[in-house]
Amino acid sequence: MLKSAIKELPKRYRTNFVNSLSGFKSGNLIGTISPDGQENLAIFTSVVHLGANPALMGFIMRPVSVPRHTYENIIATNSFTINHVHLDFYKKAHQTAARYDRAISEFAAAGLTPFYSENVKAPFVQESKVKIGLSFVESLEIKANGTQMIIGAIEEVLVAPQLIMPDGYLDLEKAGTVAVSCLDGYHQTQKLARLSYAKPDREPEEIGHEIL
Ligand SMILES: Cc1cc2nc3c(=O)[nH]c(=O)nc-3n(C[C@H](O)[C@H](O)[C@H](O)COP(=O)(O)O)c2cc1C
Repeated sequence: MLKSAIKELPKRYRTNFVNSLSGFKSGNLIGTISPDGQENLAIFTSVVHLGANPALMGFIMRPVSVPRHTYENIIATNSFTINHVHLDFYKKAHQTAARYDRAISEFAAAGLTPFYSENVKAPFVQESKVKIGLSFVESLEIKANGTQMIIGAIEEVLVAPQLIMPDGYLDLEKAGTVAVSCLDGYHQTQKLARLSYAKPDREPEEIGHEIL
C-alpha cells in the first residue's frame, strides 16, 4: 500500500493498520505521582532500551497538546516507574488507558496496587514482577509529529531473584510478561532459543542450556 493510500484509509482502520506494523511490543505500566500526591498509572507500548552503561530507557509520549498526566508528573517530579505487564493482570493494565479525570488514580480504578520504595518517588505496581524506577533525564521532541521521547536513567530495579539467570538474562516467560500488538492485542510468549553472539564466520548456536 502506498503512502497516498494509507493517508486515505478510514481513520480507525488506518490507526489499527499502522499501529500493527511495528510488530510485537512490550507492554508496560508507567507509574507517576503529582507534586500534591495524586497517583497516576497508564499503559505504554513504546518503551525502549537506550543503553546499558549508563542504564537508560525511554518511551514515546503522544503530543502533549492535550493534558497528559504521565508527562506532567514526570516533568514536575523527575520520577517515573516502568512495570512489566503479566498474564494475570493484562486486562487491568489495559483499563489504565482509559481517560480518567486527573483526580482519579488508575491504580484504584483498574484494581492494581501502588508500591513505594525508599529510593524512587514515583509508585511501582506491586503486582509486577519486573519493576524499574527511573529519574527523568531529558525529553526530545520528534518534530515530524509533535510526539516526545522521554528518557530516564534507571535508579532501581526490583526483580524476583528466581527470574534472573546466572548471566543476567531475565526469564520473561517465567515472569509471565505479555507482548502487545497494535493497541489492543495481548499475547502470551514462547521462547524459541537464545543464540550465541553473532560473528561473521560462525553460525549462531543455541546457548543458555548450560545455565538453566
Ligand atoms: C496497548 C496500549 C499502548 C499504548 N501505548 C502508548 C504509548 O506508547 N505512548 C502514549 O503516549 N500513549 C500510549 N497509549 C495511550 C495511553 O495509555 C493513554 O493515553 C493514557 O490515558 C495516558 O494516561 P495519562 O493521561 O494518565 O498519562 C497506549 C494505550 C494502549 C491501550
